[in-house]
Amino acid sequence: MSAPARNGAPVLSLRGVDTFYGRIPALRDLSLDVYEGEIVALIGANGAGKTTTLRTVSGLVRAARGEITLHGASLVGVAPDAIVRKGVVHSPEGRRIFPRLTVFENLHLGGYARKDADLAADFEHVLTLFPRLRERLKQKGGTLSGGEQQMLAIGRALMGRPKVLLLDEPSLGLSPIFVDTIFSVIADINKRGVPILLIEQNARKALHLATRAYVIETGSIVKSGSAADLLADDDVRKAYLGKD
Ligand SMILES: Nc1ncnc2c1ncn2[C@@H]1O[C@H](COP(=O)(O)OP(=O)(O)OP(=O)(O)O)[C@@H](O)[C@H]1O
Ligand SMILES: [Mg+2]
Repeated sequence: MSAPARNGAPVLSLRGVDTFYGRIPALRDLSLDVYEGEIVALIGANGAGKTTTLRTVSGLVRAARGEITLHGASLVGVAPDAIVRKGVVHSPEGRRIFPRLTVFENLHLGGYARKDADLAADFEHVLTLFPRLRERLKQKGGTLSGGEQQMLAIGRALMGRPKVLLLDEPSLGLSPIFVDTIFSVIADINKRGVPILLIEQNARKALHLATRAYVIETGSIVKSGSAADLLADDDVRKAYLGKD
């Protein structure tokens, strides 16, 4: 099966990116694209460089070499807050919500960079996606369960009106019922027009959700293709999908 049709130029593109922590290479010659309409999964073992890829896109760590573009405009050397304002919104590994702030305050921090008139509508949209958050608006973030905190982290990211959404391990540590909720919301967000770069330890679920996928090993992309092709790939099955 060939990769699904893609429209026009990529929304987000990485070309030949190297990233180092000190002198230690973390990403080597990494290239990937996210097109309009896609959910692109990045799968790989612990320490392969998945989080570093997202942190490099967000400007939290610097690309030592290569090009990163959003709709063709370079993000290299742009400050992280400016990258968020351009619409590259990152929901980080470990959720990182503000535990002492209320759910309401956490969500509105996600929209801090915006001056447009649609904030209220987006806030309402997030509460429609996550009714549990509506019930808990006055509660402190730190008192939420892990699954609710993940909802809050994704909701906060949506308040930034992403042109592309970067999700780092959204299902990590969640009970199965929350995992299903999070995955169905990710599909819904994508259907409403937000392309997504998704990192997941749960490679099988990620590949079932994604349009295309890349496999990263020790900082380099070793395989890419349609999610369906990778689900059927012997090496991917052995390394990342375990037993059926
Ligand atoms: N702040 C840091 N300083 C030094 N080395 C780091 C730092 N963060 C990550 N690394 C190293 O960079 C490599 C890639 O790490 P990264 O966190 O990107 O992997 P990952 O694929 O997200 O792993 P995981 O599945 O465990 O989240 C690893 O070897 C890691 O030890
Ligand atoms: Mg990681």
